Amino acid sequence: MWGEQAESQDFSYLWHPLTQHRGFHPLVIERGQGSTVYDIEDRAFLDAAAGLWCVNVGYGRSELIEAATRQMSMLPYYPLVQSHPAALHLAERLADLLPGLPHLYFSNSGSEANEIAFKIVRQYWKQMGQPAKVKILSRHRGYHGSTLGALSATGQTERRRDYEPLVPGFIQVSAPYCYRCPFLQTMPTTPHQCALDFERRIQIEGPETVAAIIVEPVVAGGGVLVPPDDYLMAVAEIARRNQVKLIVDEVVTAFGRTGDMFAHQRYGVTPDVVTMAKGLASGYMPIGATAVSDEIFQAFLGDVDSGRHLRHVNTFGGHPVAAAVSLANIDVIVREDLVQRSRQQGERLLKFLSESLVGLDQVGDIRGRGLLVGIEIVQDRASKTSAPNHIMRTLARYLLDHNILAGKSTDVEADHNNILMLAPPLVISDNELEQLVDTVTAAIRSLSRENAKL
Ligand SMILES: Cc1ncc(COP(=O)(O)O)c(C=O)c1O
Repeated sequence: MWGEQAESQDFSYLWHPLTQHRGFHPLVIERGQGSTVYDIEDRAFLDAAAGLWCVNVGYGRSELIEAATRQMSMLPYYPLVQSHPAALHLAERLADLLPGLPHLYFSNSGSEANEIAFKIVRQYWKQMGQPAKVKILSRHRGYHGSTLGALSATGQTERRRDYEPLVPGFIQVSAPYCYRCPFLQTMPTTPHQCALDFERRIQIEGPETVAAIIVEPVVAGGGVLVPPDDYLMAVAEIARRNQVKLIVDEVVTAFGRTGDMFAHQRYGVTPDVVTMAKGLASGYMPIGATAVSDEIFQAFLGDVDSGRHLRHVNTFGGHPVAAAVSLANIDVIVREDLVQRSRQQGERLLKFLSESLVGLDQVGDIRGRGLLVGIEIVQDRASKTSAPNHIMRTLARYLLDHNILAGKSTDVEADHNNILMLAPPLVISDNELEQLVDTVTAAIRSLSRENAKL
């Protein structure tokens, strides 16, 4: 009853992201605990998507709730046109975690964090006397957000198509998509052709026109594309020798998601800018941040009338409650060593999936880093033809019917949205992990059992 009423209210009043409303029956989720969420009829689901890959510490954390309450009573809001202790403490904490990136600009989301990064690098080059350096290079299948600048950096044709023309000066190169190598290589080469693609493009455009490269350390929503271990260093080298800034988009990957506090740190690179959002407050509050090197920050210093300051403002950026919750969240991640836990549980998840999915012709590839795992579903392994959307929906429906919430690539590329994605809270228990593997295996087996026409 309650369910029907909510569904009718939903259809009347809510407009959902990435959703065709006709025939849509939303889950109405009311509460959560650990890795489980409950709908308004108290049905439990294992949230193997951690919301939208952000509830890293799991649901129901009293530490975060208390931090929010304390901060609300003390100071519910003040803008960062001045300063406040919550933002100060958080900025210092993040600077400690990010050697070489001591300056933090706070915002409200990942898209915004990237927009700010683009504005900072463009203004930086102008102030360095190189006003033509404006272009931003990114990659096919990469995702950097939904606002127009961030969407322009996004290499997902289905996301972009209806919103063109996009912002000028954004160009995509090939992604490190080893299962479907854009250069048709079967053996790794050094340096990788996909990394060299950045250099080729910089040469074609002219280095004097390129401001920055932006990459996700692991392409997340574009299909969990895990690059070769030396890829990011090769990209960083290309950026350095062409005088191009490197922006690493850690909106998904940071705060333990991929088994490191920040994913780029595993590869030994020091970017010029790092953006973050989702796991920063584990989704308990909206917050984004753009961390910047001292060298870039220095270029913004000058006389008060020099015009060298960043001309960007957002009412809620660095919101005291979001900052206080972020600090409490980082404390939990460090105290419970959730970074290491993500690494271990991620390795187990990959191993169990590889064992239980072995021999299934619909499983083209299983890949991941930490608790960010993708399973590429194909018609058959020989042809590698992507499973069509309706099969991916059948799979998601099976999982939902068996109380599992998982992600799947959506609106990335026409006829190529065939990756099932798992990114549970980092606190997922051993039993829950096994339940997840068993149900995903049964779901994929059900495709062949019913002899579904792929
Ligand atoms: C890598 C990456 N960057 C940026 C964003 C945009 O973040 P938001 O949805 O908070 O704007 C996302 C969102 O999924 C993302 O995956």
